[in-house]
Amino acid sequence: MNATYIDEIGKHEGEEVTLRGWLYNKRSSGKLHFLQVRDGTGTIQCVVFKKEVPAEVFALADHIAQESSIVVRGTVRADDRAPLGYEVGVTGLELVGESTDYPITPKEHGVAFLLDHRHLWVRSSRQHAVLRIRSEITHACRRYFDERGFVLFDSPILTPAACEGTTTLFETPYFDETAYLTQSGQLYLEAGALAFGKAYCFGPTFRAEKSKTRRHLMEFWMVEPEVAYMDLAGDMDLAEDFVEYVVGSVVANRAHELAVLERDVDRLKSVRKPFPRISYEQALDLLHDKGIEVAWGADFGAEEETAISESFDRPVLVHRYPAECKAFYMKNDPDNEKLALCVDMLAPEGYGEIIGGGQREDDWQTLKDKIAAHDLPQEAFAWYLDLRRYGSVPHAGFGMGIERVVAWICGLHHVRETIPFPRMLERLTP
Ligand code: 4AD
Ligand code: MG
Repeated sequence: MNATYIDEIGKHEGEEVTLRGWLYNKRSSGKLHFLQVRDGTGTIQCVVFKKEVPAEVFALADHIAQESSIVVRGTVRADDRAPLGYEVGVTGLELVGESTDYPITPKEHGVAFLLDHRHLWVRSSRQHAVLRIRSEITHACRRYFDERGFVLFDSPILTPAACEGTTTLFETPYFDETAYLTQSGQLYLEAGALAFGKAYCFGPTFRAEKSKTRRHLMEFWMVEPEVAYMDLAGDMDLAEDFVEYVVGSVVANRAHELAVLERDVDRLKSVRKPFPRISYEQALDLLHDKGIEVAWGADFGAEEETAISESFDRPVLVHRYPAECKAFYMKNDPDNEKLALCVDMLAPEGYGEIIGGGQREDDWQTLKDKIAAHDLPQEAFAWYLDLRRYGSVPHAGFGMGIERVVAWICGLHHVRETIPFPRMLERLTP
């Protein structure tokens, strides 16, 4: 008999099925064992009734421990009280792999302990919900760009130069040279945009940020679109449409997981276009009104981002920051040379910056001067400058950090639970 997956159990009411999975939890009362069996697609209650099974099956049900792998045979019956609407009346049970003294018990554990056991923690129902939502978000991002004519243009992981500042580079020997793990695929994506018009990349990015905050990882995933002939206004339109789509996909397809996480779904449903747009200077005023003084020229930190986002029920786009606090590749605002044509999207509910992007400097000489002003090695950027020598056009794009978006959509306090194996300041294992 072929095995059935728990998420399809409803198609088999009244039938005999075989489930292959693991024992999630167990409750017993004399003549009955209630086995919570999970198989990765769901969890279902399987009832072992002493009178209905051979003695050795009942004895096995009595003795199997949490997270043992098991094959269960039984009949599917409707049950109004069950979360899936069904339970299984067990007729046969087989132990595949024993599990003794499983370290993660239903009692409370500290975060450090859980992170040490991350390879097992991912089996727990909350983690399961988070990682399924992450998977949904990743698919939604790809679908969005794939369906709109963007070419997937994979950027390299090993790079010869910095994209987002030289202080957060991970260095690695590269034969006789030094390579750095990429901080962003953007510079390469610009070549892609000038070749294909619309391109995107989606991969891991790395930053040796000595910051121990709830929003920072050393290794995180970024999705980055880049479009030729697009300006800052177009970039903001794209970012807003994209984020509305991604949130909408999770709300539509992952209601069960959001419920497991007790997420307030109404907050997500209000993430609809248009998103508010304010300039950096308007943001300074808004902060001032809340009693937070930021000197003109300074970038916003977590506290400021949270304070700004609290004024809105959906993500807010903050544009035109002072050029001095932003990256070398940004184009200056022709109406005010002190400002960069850039945008950050801040998530609501205090989840901070989820998107950074903007219009790129497209003039060869200006870009060359900026590279020099930022003390970056000219040789390493010769190819990048070439893009301004051979048919330069206005172009723009952005990068969205997946883990921050997962944290926001799931309503998690910390990004450490948003990726299967988080890389943090003081953690490289498991
Ligand atoms: O704002 P950032 O630094 O922008 C760039 O890297 C651009 N080159 C992207 C582009 O225009 N193509 O990073 C983009 C996003 C941030 O908004 C944030 O969501 C995420 O990446 N991010 C991090 N996420 C987790 N941990 C970190 N250490 C992060 N640093 C940035
Ligand atoms: Mg940023």
